[in-house]
Amino acid sequence: MRELITKSFLEIFAQEPILAFAPGRINLIGEHTDYQEGFVFPAAVAQGIWFAIQKNKSNSTRIHSLDFNEDFVFDVKSFSPRKGHWANYIMGIVSQFKQAGYEVEGFDMVFGGNIPVGSGLSSSAALSVGVGTAISGLFNFNIPKKSLALYAQKSEQLYEGLNCGIMDPYASAFGKADHALLLDCRTNTHEEIPITLGQYSLLLVNTKVKHKLADSAYNKRRSACEESVEILSQKFPEIKTLRDFSEKDLPKVKSILPRELFSKAKHVILEDLRVHQAGESLRHGELVKFGELMKASHESLSKDYEVSCAELDFLAEESWKKSYVLGSRMMGGGFGGCTINLLETERIPEFKRSVSTSYLQAFNIEPEFIEVKPSDGARIVK
Ligand code: GLA
Repeated sequence: MRELITKSFLEIFAQEPILAFAPGRINLIGEHTDYQEGFVFPAAVAQGIWFAIQKNKSNSTRIHSLDFNEDFVFDVKSFSPRKGHWANYIMGIVSQFKQAGYEVEGFDMVFGGNIPVGSGLSSSAALSVGVGTAISGLFNFNIPKKSLALYAQKSEQLYEGLNCGIMDPYASAFGKADHALLLDCRTNTHEEIPITLGQYSLLLVNTKVKHKLADSAYNKRRSACEESVEILSQKFPEIKTLRDFSEKDLPKVKSILPRELFSKAKHVILEDLRVHQAGESLRHGELVKFGELMKASHESLSKDYEVSCAELDFLAEESWKKSYVLGSRMMGGGFGGCTINLLETERIPEFKRSVSTSYLQAFNIEPEFIEVKPSDGARIVK
């Protein structure tokens, strides 16, 4: 990929580029907690997006996307992001940089990657964080990783209308090989936990569906949490988010919130707890325990938080039936995308055969399998 990007940059723009890379991410556990200042447990993966970039001494920014085989040009002094176009993510970051006072000048860029589209590996975070890393490197802005992650989050919220949390860009920026990041989304700081899986591996199964209302449902769930906090804070003025409650508070929370809101709040409160338990399990190599937590997370996301779908439930249930799978759950925002599975490496071929057949039978879709490994975060390559 690296060679391809460089070659294509040289062909189109006839000068030596700087290279940058930003990865996609997985999340081991801790779903729909980041926007309530809770805890998540993501890792960057080896799959990602490569960027070749160079200044062009003009106000015009010229971009070529290898994957879309498409060009896009915009005036760096005056432009407006357009929702739904890939260039929106690039303009979004430039716009955030400019608002923060960085003098971005015209540049040329070629980019392309190997993150399966729609897989839920967060190619949008990889794109935003990668563009940020590339521009920061090109103009020597030295922007800290945490700021890059925050600009990426803001850009997605403002220009794509998804009221997302910090997890995806943070993981893309801070990832570390063979580690997952136990991230506190209140302080935006993390602890690196070594991931030693021995004879086990992480494997994603892509449902290859994304249900239509996914983004609006995401924003709705977030609003439901905010509504709960508003109601609860009348009784508990010191609380800021659902993060401030723990398991022992559930009876009180239940007595105050309407049923519908309570089940959502319960998910967030217990999921935060599961992240800590998962951190402990992985620190001590207790993979069976971790697998049980994955299952509990899925059940909670499906039944209480209601962000799963028939395809994700089916895949998780298929995995739970197999003795050599330690854990399985939906990953990411929900309503499609992938399940993440922890299973015996040796039995992966057998797993693939079995799941392909049953998923095809049930939904008439061939699932996609994606092998993932905790890897390093965004960086300038050359
Ligand atoms: C999406 C969002 C993240 C996070 C997850 C759910 O990936 O971008 O911020 O909320 O959903 O855990």
